[in-house]
Amino acid sequence: MSSSILVTGGAGYIGSHIVLQLLLGGYKAVVVDNLDNSSEIALKRIKDLAGENGPNLTFNKIDLRDKPALEKLFASEKFDAVIHFAGLKAVGESVEKPLMYYNNNLIGTITLLEVMAAHGCKKLAFSSSATVYGWPKVVPCTEESPVSAMNPYGRTKLFIEEICRDLHLSDSSWKIILLRYFNPVGSHPSGSLGEDPRGIPNNLMPFVQQVAVGRRPALTVFGTDYGTKDGTGVRDFIHVVDLADGYIAALNKLSDPSVGCEVYNLGTGKGTSVLEMVAAFEKASGKKIPLVKASRRPGDAEILYGSTEKAERELNWKAKYGIEEMCRDQWNWASKNPYGYDSTN
Ligand code: NAD
Ligand code: WQD
Repeated sequence: MSSSILVTGGAGYIGSHIVLQLLLGGYKAVVVDNLDNSSEIALKRIKDLAGENGPNLTFNKIDLRDKPALEKLFASEKFDAVIHFAGLKAVGESVEKPLMYYNNNLIGTITLLEVMAAHGCKKLAFSSSATVYGWPKVVPCTEESPVSAMNPYGRTKLFIEEICRDLHLSDSSWKIILLRYFNPVGSHPSGSLGEDPRGIPNNLMPFVQQVAVGRRPALTVFGTDYGTKDGTGVRDFIHVVDLADGYIAALNKLSDPSVGCEVYNLGTGKGTSVLEMVAAFEKASGKKIPLVKASRRPGDAEILYGSTEKAERELNWKAKYGIEEMCRDQWNWASKNPYGYDSTN
């Protein structure tokens, strides 16, 4: 019988790509999502892309904080592991509405862990974030680098990491992998799945994509005076399909009896500047991206990229794609879905 994996936040940008990879890999995927920042159309498209494995996807519109609903789900089905994406992720919004972020991300996670424990499901892969490295003094960041949060969103990630460590200390039968990933971009090569943020995009590439399709006039570049090769911020962009493969590798690792509570970076190990990324997108799309130079965005790090050695060594995983493929696939998605999942049904 195939393994059944519960994916919280599975209708979202990253979750949808992992759900597809799970189905293609022969897993059963059960998605829990409240659809606050996603569309059910993504799930329909995943089913289509998964072909004969499509029927192995089921969806439950549940808010993670709804404990009775979660209890009912766990009572109806046995899960081999949980991949946990569900959460709010907009840094600026978390500064304005900290309680909303602590409520959603912390209470959602604690409720999930309680229900998992009650049903003897003790394997978890959690979406942490490279945001926990703050403004690093030394790059590449390794899993041992100092951590610090610059905003409430980042603090929810740090707190959840600590909760997971405490949980494992209290009961060593838990197996938990904390994945700190860097800047996911790109889309499934079909162009059927991709990032579809609500409102004004906070992140670089969704904004660039909206400029390219004519929804916004220009990209504002936050900071051109950093001590980097061209003065703009440097990040570790990673193709979302590589990230999905990293999750499958983490899932396999959860079956290793030696695993306790482990943290892994998922990145490419390479730093790319904002202007380099814009140039790569212009090349892939054939569209000119007008730029407006602006001051630094508060809380932004200058250079952030990660060491990939631990994931390569212990998960046997390495990112395959570079920025050309990321931009090619992102443009494929954007040009086919200029208004995201609202473009078509
Ligand atoms: P996303 O917003 O597209 O996906 C998150 C999903 O969780 C959405 O579908 C949303 O509707 C759902 N959700 C939120 N709160 C919920 C709740 N209480 N109950 C049920 N469902 C809920 O975001 P994403 O980019 O796919 O990110 C997924 C995870 O990865 C998040 O935890 C995020 O913090 C983390 N992460 C994202 C990035 C990034 O840059 N995208 C980087 C590092 C880590
Ligand atoms: C990248 C670079 C900006 C938008 C964020 C979260 C982090 C993680 C990944 C979840 C920076 C510049 C951006 C724009 C710009 N998410 N930029 N104009 O800040 O590295 O990380 O997403 O965990 O927690 O903080 O990503 O894409 O917002 O910015 O110039 O309109 O692009 O200043 O240098 P960031 P980003």
